Order: sequence, then C-alpha cells, then structure tokens
Amino acid sequence: MNLSRYMKERQRLVDRTLRALLAPSSGKPPRTLDRAMRYSLFSGGKRIRPILALASAEALGARLEPVLPFACGLEMIHAYSLVHDDLPAMDDDDLRRGKPTNHVVFGEGMAILAGDGLLTEAFRVMAEGALAAPQRGKAALRALHEVAAAAGAGGMVGGQVLDLEAEEKKPTRTVVEAIHTRKTGAMIRAAVRVGGLLGGATPRQYERLDQYGTAIGLAFQVTDDILDIEGGTEKTGKREGRDAELNKATYPAAIGLDRSKRLARQLREDALSALQPFGPAAEPLRQICHLIVDRAAPAQT
Ligand code: IPE
Ligand code: IPE
Ligand code: MG
Ligand code: MG
Ligand code: MG
Repeated sequence: MNLSRYMKERQRLVDRTLRALLAPSSGKPPRTLDRAMRYSLFSGGKRIRPILALASAEALGARLEPVLPFACGLEMIHAYSLVHDDLPAMDDDDLRRGKPTNHVVFGEGMAILAGDGLLTEAFRVMAEGALAAPQRGKAALRALHEVAAAAGAGGMVGGQVLDLEAEEKKPTRTVVEAIHTRKTGAMIRAAVRVGGLLGGATPRQYERLDQYGTAIGLAFQVTDDILDIEGGTEKTGKREGRDAELNKATYPAAIGLDRSKRLARQLREDALSALQPFGPAAEPLRQICHLIVDRAAPAQT
C-alpha cells in the first residue's frame, strides 16, 4: 500500500466529516469562539488518532461510517488538549504546527473556552453518532465510555497533572512511563479500542488490538520527546528544546537519547507482533506504527 496516499485520503475524510459534524445541532456558537475552535482543529494536525480508529475497524473488515463520529470526537479532544497544553500556565508555547498558538491569537480566556468548547462538542458529536446507530447502541455506548475514561482524570488529564508535577523532580523511568502512558498513550490506545469495539472485534481480536494500541501509544510520546531534542522546528512545527527548558520528565532525560530510540523501535516490534494474527486488512495499522517511530528513530542507528 502507498502510505502517504492512504494518510492523505483519510485526512480528507476526517476533515470533511469534522466540518459537517461541527455545524451545531442546537444553538449557534459566538463567532469568536467558533473561529478559535476551528483555528486549532484545522491547522494541519496529522489526524493520527482518528485514522487509527478507522484503521482498526478496517483491520476487522468492518464499515468505517459508524466509526467516523468517534474518530472526529477523538480529534476534537486531542485539539483541545493541545490548546490547553500550550497555555502560559502549562507549557507556555507560542508555536504549534508552524503557527502561533491559540492563546497568542485569541487571548488566554478565549483559548481556555475554545478548549472547553472542543471537549464538550466532542461528546455531542459522539453521542449523535451513537444515536444514529441504535442497533449498535451497546458498542457505541462502550466506545463513549472508553473515550471518556481515556481523556479524563485517570487518563490524559491525569497524565498532564503528573507531567506538571514532575517538572520539580528528577525523572526516573518509572515516573516517565506513568506520565506518558496517561497523557498520550491513553488516547491513542482508546482510538484503537474504539475501532475494535465498533468494528465488532472478538475478545481475542480486541485483546490483540489493545496490545497494539498500548505499544504505539507509548511509542508516540517517546518519539515526541526525541523530536523535541533533534526534530527541528521545520519538521515538528514546534519550538525545539522546550522540554529541557521546562525541565520536563521525558524518556531522553530519564534514560538518554540512544536508549529512548531503542525503546521506540522495541515498542514498534511489540505493536507489530500483536498484529500477527491479522491479515492484509491490518496493513494500514502496521504502516502507521512505522510512520510514528521512523519520524524519530529511523531504521538502525
Ligand atoms: C502532539 O500530538 C502532542 C502529543 C500528544 C505528543 P500530535 O503529534 O499527534 O499532534 P498533531 O495533531 O499531529 O499536530
Ligand atoms: C502533550 O505532551 C500531551 C498532551 C496531552 C497534550 P507534550 O507537551 O510533549 O506535547 P507537545 O510537544 O507540546 O506537542
Ligand atoms: Mg505538555
Ligand atoms: Mg507541550
Ligand atoms: Mg512534546
């Protein structure tokens, strides 16, 4: 398969669906809020989480349509998490995807509210998806629960709290793993699980997909940490070296750059072996984990 063509097609599908679902079913948002939300939702994100949800259903030979609202909900939650992550009270970043961050353009108050709007609207969009397919009610309800748990206090938000608290301490591998599996791993794992739930995975298939999602979820943040050091603004669209400036608990800080790259490659192997029982329909999932790790730890170094 041609991965870059696949990604482009899927990005277009996600973008189209996001635009359609964002039109509110009840109540028109104030213009500034609408602009601020769209600014961060349509600014060149890779759409990895929604594409993973779709690819996971695809691996099971299932239809993509019922997954789309959940794929979009995941991306909206991701977009909110970045708007808040960049705020002065958090990572205090002024550049994302090569553009000024949300609060730089719209002000802090509006950025906080744009994040709130994206998070809440995500659940509206997913609930509407569940209502539109009542015969899949139970699976859709489980998918909703999955996303809420992954985004919430025991998942992404909890991970962001640990991330902030760790700025004061010397990072250990155990602490960094606890942070990364929550702040980033949880939502990526949820994306894969949602595709599995809505795609009708058997318990064994679901377990395999879960192993895959767990491995690439952690790999994703390990590579993000590596790219913060040597990715360069050109490639990442973010300022380089912010983690060191903020004394962040990262894998390179805890175990060094070389071991972090080795870990990323090991996690890719774990993810690939979890997919072994799946046939060619799982090829997109396989390729995506190369895409994630190769950004920061290509082949052998
Ligand atoms: C960046 O996520 C934040 C992390 C969780 C590491 P992505 O690298 O998926 O960001 P975009 O959406 O593609 O810009
Ligand atoms: C962010 O981690 C994780 C989120 C939940 C947003 P980072 O703080 O490392 O993400 P970037 O590097 O700013 O994209
Ligand atoms: Mg952060
Ligand atoms: Mg950040
Ligand atoms: Mg980072």
